[in-house]
Formats: sequence, C-alpha cells, structure tokens
Amino acid sequence: MKPAFELNNVSLIHPNGHSALRDISLHARSGEKIAVIGSSGAGKTSLLNLLATSVRPSAGAISLLGQDVWQLNKSALRRLRTQIGMIHQQPPLPAKQRVITAVLAGKLGQWSQARALLSLIYPQDIPGVFHVLQQLEIADKIFERCDVLSGGQLQRVGVARILYQSPSLILADEPVSAMDPTLSEITISKLHATASQGGVTFVASLHAVDIALKWFERIIGIKSGRIAFDLPVLQVTRAMLNDLYDAESGAIPLQGITLADTEPCEP
Ligand SMILES: Nc1ncnc2c1ncn2[C@@H]1O[C@H](COP(=O)(O)OP(=O)(O)OP(=O)(O)O)[C@@H](O)[C@H]1O
Ligand SMILES: [Mg+2]
Repeated sequence: MKPAFELNNVSLIHPNGHSALRDISLHARSGEKIAVIGSSGAGKTSLLNLLATSVRPSAGAISLLGQDVWQLNKSALRRLRTQIGMIHQQPPLPAKQRVITAVLAGKLGQWSQARALLSLIYPQDIPGVFHVLQQLEIADKIFERCDVLSGGQLQRVGVARILYQSPSLILADEPVSAMDPTLSEITISKLHATASQGGVTFVASLHAVDIALKWFERIIGIKSGRIAFDLPVLQVTRAMLNDLYDAESGAIPLQGITLADTEPCEP
C-alpha cells in the first residue's frame, strides 16, 4: 500500500535552541490509525506540527503522501496541504466567526477563489456543514459565534472542519481533551470510522492512554523527543507505559483494557 508519510532521521530544534525531537525515523502506510502518547513536553505536538508541514525540520527528510515536502515549490506545497487536516487542541478560530464559516473554511483551499470569497459573505453548502455537525451532536450551534462556545464544543467544531475538508491525512493534537467521556467516544469513533471507510491515515496525540489503546492499532510512545516504542497495540505492555510516564505501577488508569503483560482490569 502507498506510504502516507515517511520521516528519515528527523530532528526539530525550536528557534530558542530547544531540541524538541531527535533523530526520528517513522513510516506509515495509507489508512493506518496511530496514537502518539507520552508525557507533557515529550514532543507530541512538535511531531504533529512537522507532519502538518507547519514547521520545518532542522535535520532529516519528510515525505508526505509520496511527496518530498520541503523540496516542493509553493503551489505544490499548497496543494499538498489541502490533503492534510490538523485538529488542534484549542482550534485557532476567530472569535467573531460563526460555526458555519469555521467549518466551511475546511474546504477553502480546494475551492476556486470566487467560491471561497463568496462563502465568506454568504455561506455555501449549509446542508453539508449541518451533516458533519450533526454527527458530532453540535448541529444546533451552526449559526452561533465561536466565542460563545464551550471548550468541548469548540473542539468539536475543529473536528467538524476537518471532517468537512475530507483530507487524506488527519492529524489530531489532543482532539478530545476538553470533552466529557461520552462526547470523547462519539468524536473518536467518528474520526475512526472516517479513517476506516476512506483509507484515510489518522494520527492522534492523546493523554488518555485508555482511549489510545482502545481505538488505535499502532501506538508510538515518545519520551524526551525520541521514540521510546513504536508497536502494534497488542504488544504494548504496562511496563512500557510505566517507563514512558515514569509512573508507579498501577498509576495509569486503564479500566477495561487488557495489556500484553497483565490480566484484564475490572471495567
Ligand atoms: N515554539 C516553541 N519554542 C520553544 N520550545 C518549544 C516550542 N514548542 C514546544 N517547545 C518545547 O519543545 C518540547 C516539546 O513540546 P511539545 O509541545 O511538542 O510537547 P507535547 O508532548 O505536545 O506536550 P503536552 O503533552 O504538554 O502538549 C517542550 O519542552 C516544549 O517546551
Ligand atoms: Mg502537545
């Protein structure tokens, strides 16, 4: 199957000299569902930003959807970016923007300039936007302004925008961190189904290890900017997780999850 992305010996040093990622080599097939886990400051967001082409690596090569990203000219890079959808932990949506406009913006890069401009004045495709919002149980907010939404509602608008964009690669940075458990399940299952149905590659960073282990087939653990492990979910052990988070035995909540080295926990 076609590779979705390939990182070869990639490092990222932030402008202040902080080394966030060191010598990362990764390869993902189209349609893979990958969770990136690790403690705060480990480098998860930095990795997703690299995959989103929003930062340039300090060393190494990145290929996305078969293209050598930083060798592309501006228009080819712009075209590639229409195939990548990034869901941010706190979606950077203008406060005064209405939900419908925020979701429609997912397709702006794919529309003609005339249609994109028109959509800012008069929303195009209200039924299409309503449909994705409905799946995330937030259709009633379609004409609200973004600044009156709660954190979890805003996150769902960010998810809806990417579902509406319909990219080949979905990157999600803590996509459900502000949601209650029921909405987290609804949202992750929708993203999961979208990836499964469309052969879309789905990479999410998650603090909730139980969500990572329940929904993702491959788990990448990042520690201090390096890959600690990169394994099929069934091979992840509690010992690896304890080491990843420098946690005491049993400190990571994993209700209902069976790990390779432990008995099932009580649900
Ligand atoms: N723009 C930046 N400039 C300088 N250092 C940065 C920048 N962004 C992140 N860092 C540093 O890089 C390291 C990795 O940060 P990153 O945001 O990737 O971590 P993370 O795993 O996403 O953490 P969290 O779980 O808290 O979101 C951290 O030490 C952070 O302080
Ligand atoms: Mg982060």
